Amino acid sequence: MDLLLKDKVALITGASRGLGAASAATLAAEGTNLILSARDKDALTAQSKKLVAEHGVRVVTAPADLTQVAISDSVVKAGIDAFGRIDILVNSAGASQGGLFWEVPDQVWQDSMELKVMGTIRMMRAVIPHMLENKSGRIVNIVGNTGVQPSPRLLPGSAANAALLAVTRGLGEELAPHNVIVNALNPGPTRTERWTNLMAKQAESSGRTVPEVESDYTDQIPMDRLAEPEEIGRLAAFLSSERAANMTGACLTADGGWTKGIG
Ligand SMILES: NC(=O)c1ccc[n+]([C@@H]2O[C@H](COP(=O)([O-])OP(=O)(O)OC[C@H]3O[C@@H](n4cnc5c(N)ncnc54)[C@H](OP(=O)(O)O)[C@@H]3O)[C@@H](O)[C@H]2O)c1
Repeated sequence: MDLLLKDKVALITGASRGLGAASAATLAAEGTNLILSARDKDALTAQSKKLVAEHGVRVVTAPADLTQVAISDSVVKAGIDAFGRIDILVNSAGASQGGLFWEVPDQVWQDSMELKVMGTIRMMRAVIPHMLENKSGRIVNIVGNTGVQPSPRLLPGSAANAALLAVTRGLGEELAPHNVIVNALNPGPTRTERWTNLMAKQAESSGRTVPEVESDYTDQIPMDRLAEPEEIGRLAAFLSSERAANMTGACLTADGGWTKGIG
């Protein structure tokens, strides 16, 4: 299936590694031009060079710390200055930490809300006026299945995800008449740097090994494995495409069958 993404322009946050980088790679392979954002300039430059060399697309980088209030406007401006428009926004910046609820300090909760929730909200708020002007837009929020099925040791991220699912649902309805669609992608545990770090921290604090801690999660996953970032990147590309044009305010779950329930 041709996703009809050639020559589109996508802005991706969290693009220096993990699910954002995997989404960027899939979109580049489809011929989409890219604006890559994250804090690590060197990682963004390396990503950019690789994608240009492998796929011949145009790529600009927009380094930014999305916890800074006005920064999303400058990221969007960098994209508009380079390409004249932004067709797609993929929000993948996030770094929520976890732990035993009674040991998790305020700062961890605040960081999760500031980056994942407010970072995503501010990026959408900055890009939507341009999409409305173009009468077209696709927004994919990489959220997480813990927003539907909270994970006891990952509650700051679970709460952030639940908030983003609510915003995605409501905004999908608001923007539907304008041909701007907004969907969430809910991965389960996926083998990225973030996941590896989370497991290392949980192992350290519990005095167990990483495989033991990780099996607490995989034992609950019917497919009995983590997802690979590329699997999630392909779904982000699908949701970014015209092929998903009748979906909005929806949530696509990709968690190896972990999340229970049908609603
Ligand atoms: N991996 C999983 O198992 C999983 C499952 C469900 C949902 N998710 C969600 O998917 C999203 C991506 O996760 P991931 O696993 O790909 O994580 P990751 O490998 O740690 O990548 C996170 C990305 O966010 C960027 N970032 C972190 N802090 C930032 C800040 N202050 N400002 C701007 N960018 C920032 C990082 O780049 P810099 O450090 O260069 O800024 C990086 O590109 C997160 O929201 C996560 O909650 C992940």
